[in-house]
Amino acid sequence: MLTLFVSLSLSLRPRSRLLWWVKRGLLVVCVIYVSVPFMMRLFPDIIKHLVYSHRVSVPFFVNLSQPADLYLNHTVNMYLKSEQGISLGVWHTVPESQWKEAQGKDLEWYQDSLGAGIPIIIYLHGNGGTRAASHRVGLIHVLSAIGCHVLALDYRGFGDSTGEPTEVGLTTDTLYLYQWVKARSGSSLVVLWGHSLGTGDASSILHSLKRMKSRLLILHAEDDHIVPIHMAQQLYEIAQSAQNSENQVKMIPFAGSLGYHHNGLYKDPHLPGIIREFVHTLAP
Ligand SMILES: *[C@@H]1O[C@H](CO)[C@@H](O)[C@H](O)[C@H]1NC(C)=O
Ligand SMILES: *[C@@H]1O[C@H](CO)[C@@H](O)[C@H](O)[C@H]1NC(C)=O
Repeated sequence: MLTLFVSLSLSLRPRSRLLWWVKRGLLVVCVIYVSVPFMMRLFPDIIKHLVYSHRVSVPFFVNLSQPADLYLNHTVNMYLKSEQGISLGVWHTVPESQWKEAQGKDLEWYQDSLGAGIPIIIYLHGNGGTRAASHRVGLIHVLSAIGCHVLALDYRGFGDSTGEPTEVGLTTDTLYLYQWVKARSGSSLVVLWGHSLGTGDASSILHSLKRMKSRLLILHAEDDHIVPIHMAQQLYEIAQSAQNSENQVKMIPFAGSLGYHHNGLYKDPHLPGIIREFVHTLAP
């Protein structure tokens, strides 16, 4: 389709440029409406790839088994088996204050540390790329700096995890990690942090664990070009009516002028304070 537009533009004389742009604008709209359902029927695999972008290994040349290369020197890389034939790559980062103690420690030390009563955040990342993407590593740094454990997984088919992504599979992987953490967390608080696709996942988990008492904090940049702010507003309203109490659900928008778009919230200087306060309200 794109090639067709380019060759059209070359064959047109300058005075018809404006008309051409108008026509092209209309044409693009039609093409999008017609071709998306059409393509879905013809190329389900391509669409799946576009939606999850799971094989795009961003950033390139990162060895996921060496998180210390990304200044995560208090992190262990491990593989969990969420079901037969599915191996998931997971990073466990301990609170930054423990970085010295963590040097050279084995999986057992990391697992034992989960039961020490310190809040644990399970980070469910969004579409595309791996747990090593810079905004994800940035968020892991923020969360560990405020004194939390962070578990960041690549769902099946993402990063170095095996298998192919499906909606059911992503939920299975997330629930598996949640239960794995719960089996080791003792009385430590466990928080789910979902981003984008991960947010959908976090809500389906809330759905699956109906009896779990939950609070929800929605953080959204007003200039998010991938998930528009009105969708966050909608989620807020739905969650609020489901919870029957205004205190349980909170939404904090970030001004568009800050330029965070879809991935930049981790840079906000107020974020550590916001999360600390939220985690504090959750503490038993
Ligand atoms: C990645 O790191 C692991 C552990 O240090 C090592 O065994 C493996 O060979 C590395 N992989 C690549 C592609 O360099
Ligand atoms: C390890 O990570 C911590 C926290 O990010 C940092 O303060 C420290 O300088 C790092 N140490 C080394 C030896 O890289």
